[in-house]
Amino acid sequence: MSNILHVLLCALITGAMTFAAAQQPVYLDPDASIESRVEDALQRMTLREKVAILHAQSKFSSPGVPRLGIPENWMSDGPHGIRAEVMWDEWYGANWTNDSCIAFPALTCLAATWNPDMALLYGRSIGEEARYRNKNVLLGPGVNIYRTPLNGRNFEYMGEDPCLASKIVVPYVKGVQQNGVAACVKHYALNNQEVARGHINVILSDRALYEIYLPAFKAAVQEGGAWAIMGAYNKYKGEFASHNQYLLNRILKHDWKFDGVVVSDWGATHNTEEAINNGLDMEFGSWTDGMNWSKSNAYDVYYLANPYLELLEQGKADIKTLDDKVRRVLRLIFRTTMSPSRPYGSFGSPEHGLAARTIAEQGIVLLKNNVPVKSTSAVLPVDVNKTKKILVVGENAVKRMTIGGGSSSLKAKYEISPLDGIKALAGSRVQITYVKGYESPAVKEQDVLGAKDPETKEIDIAGLRAEAVEQAAQADMVIFIGGLNKNDYQDCEGMDRTALSLPYEQDALIAALVKANPRTAVVIISGNAVAMPWVSQVPAIVEAWYSGSEAGNALARVLFGEVNPSGKLPFSFPVRLEDNSAHSPKGGEYPGNNVDVNYKDDIFVGYRWLEREKIKPLFAFGHGLSYTAFEYDLYARTYNGIDSKTPTVTLSMQEITKIEGEIMRLDIKVKNTGTTDGAEVVQLYISDKKSSLPRPVKELKDFDKVYVEAGKTAIATVSITADDLKYYDDKKGQWVLEAGDFEALVGSSSSDIRLTVKFAVK
Ligand code: BGC
Repeated sequence: MSNILHVLLCALITGAMTFAAAQQPVYLDPDASIESRVEDALQRMTLREKVAILHAQSKFSSPGVPRLGIPENWMSDGPHGIRAEVMWDEWYGANWTNDSCIAFPALTCLAATWNPDMALLYGRSIGEEARYRNKNVLLGPGVNIYRTPLNGRNFEYMGEDPCLASKIVVPYVKGVQQNGVAACVKHYALNNQEVARGHINVILSDRALYEIYLPAFKAAVQEGGAWAIMGAYNKYKGEFASHNQYLLNRILKHDWKFDGVVVSDWGATHNTEEAINNGLDMEFGSWTDGMNWSKSNAYDVYYLANPYLELLEQGKADIKTLDDKVRRVLRLIFRTTMSPSRPYGSFGSPEHGLAARTIAEQGIVLLKNNVPVKSTSAVLPVDVNKTKKILVVGENAVKRMTIGGGSSSLKAKYEISPLDGIKALAGSRVQITYVKGYESPAVKEQDVLGAKDPETKEIDIAGLRAEAVEQAAQADMVIFIGGLNKNDYQDCEGMDRTALSLPYEQDALIAALVKANPRTAVVIISGNAVAMPWVSQVPAIVEAWYSGSEAGNALARVLFGEVNPSGKLPFSFPVRLEDNSAHSPKGGEYPGNNVDVNYKDDIFVGYRWLEREKIKPLFAFGHGLSYTAFEYDLYARTYNGIDSKTPTVTLSMQEITKIEGEIMRLDIKVKNTGTTDGAEVVQLYISDKKSSLPRPVKELKDFDKVYVEAGKTAIATVSITADDLKYYDDKKGQWVLEAGDFEALVGSSSSDIRLTVKFAVK
């Protein structure tokens, strides 16, 4: 081709491209800002198209705007893995063959890592899985506060403390959203029990709302930048949480400036006008009026479907409110599916398996590890040189825990059971025998159409127990693996537990096992605290959570010392149910009277209650042992950027209020005094010595997990901001910083404080 021809051709092509670019609508322009794309798309949409994108079209999807090429939204549970595909209009599994995910540890386990880096890894990995599966909204994470150990869904949440939950939820959300997938933080708000969740009205003080139940949601929105939030089932101030003037319009959208979408929980919408006016943006899972139930057009009778359209057409609903909702849904789409920088994701990869294992390893908590009677060494880690025969007992050693528990149930690509993990790690060096010891009634595996309930059979618990005890006496050591199991009433959505005790006569079994063999380690798999009437007899106790695909590998590596445990409890274990705030005869209330539940325990939830009432917990919030030991020493104290050597610091109120970030930083030397490398979580609690309103004895405000080699020292850093010193004053309706004396308490758990730094605010 001659040069002239070439130049001419190029000019023609460039011209054509410029022309095409000029023709390209702004909403399709990847270089345009999200807001201009939203506005452009909005003004092109008809009234019908606008209403259509506000409600579901199937169990987990909502329509886009087909005429404009704006894609649908596809949602998935959440929060521990990407749920298997279900049928279009049914809860049953769709029997796809390409939807087996990596199951990540339950969020309780993530919280127990006390490690924001693990939360980022978690979010990024699960976000990649969601992206690969073409989901643009992940229905999770859950951050409802753990108020009672009976709550069937606590395993999907991040524990009892607002500071811990906030610091874990933020990186989770960021990690998910890096993939162009929205995190839908749930269940906003006050869904702290499953009993009567669909209608119970929660009564509580503004102070408890702001200090305990909202901070993790606020952090997810303001620091994590969450693009979606799910309204809860329950009521607050007499209005359903999914269309609640106070929670959604006032707090979330006005005060916190949330610009994402509010999605209803599935079936949590009850009224068109409230849904329109009280802050709901997208309606999912509604049961229709019964007459249309499951008919193909059932979605048209959703509260935000034809009934909304009719009000709009009659001029009884305003366009401004409609457009606000539509903008939010469009923003969601431009942030996710139509984002030009959206990566492609990956699914079921070895990297995700490794992420799941690492998180599980960091979350497993060593609760107790004593030297048994007539022994010279602690039970854990198992010494394979001195142990020839191990008896593994308990159904949870073999039970698949990624299945069950409600909407978070998963179809996992694989799941290593504890027994498999133990055999893989030590089977060639130690003889490993397994007996069940107890059994729970069988449940349905995957919920697919036509799957039958398993036949009920007689379980001879006494016989199973006798067999286990007999064998225990002949082994060098026993590893009991039991706990709860996500069956109905045993950590399951839709129903709370009915007691703090372990089910299936496990207490009797554990007591008999340890009597037969004092070298017995008890591993509890659960998402909740359980009673341990045998605690003083059993030398070693581990809380291993529901840990996902790699559960067995992670547990085995901790039990055999390949990994030094570093998890800390994200909630307190009470001795008795009555010791817990919600169940205390001194002011607790649970589950309410089926109409209202009054959170009379107010801000005194979890350790805040136990400490105020001077009740000794079974295991304290923040507790977790290691195979090594750590010594703490205050290294430096910095106030407002200046090193301070004086023993008592006085901070001036005027100055503090001017400072946005940290007002004081504490650097702590953490020395590993043992012979094993390990990680320690240094926890900072603040104690307000005197205040106008009653305050907890102390409250967690910061923490830092540091890895320290044996014999070495590392520096942990925790800091205090002005906000950490404030309380919420109901009467004033605002956060208050009061002058007075404070203590910064630095420790290894809420009941093991190692350093105290006094300071005053003048
Ligand atoms: C649960 C949500 C879940 C939704 C969809 C509801 O029952 O409360 O957490 O995301 O179902 O499965």
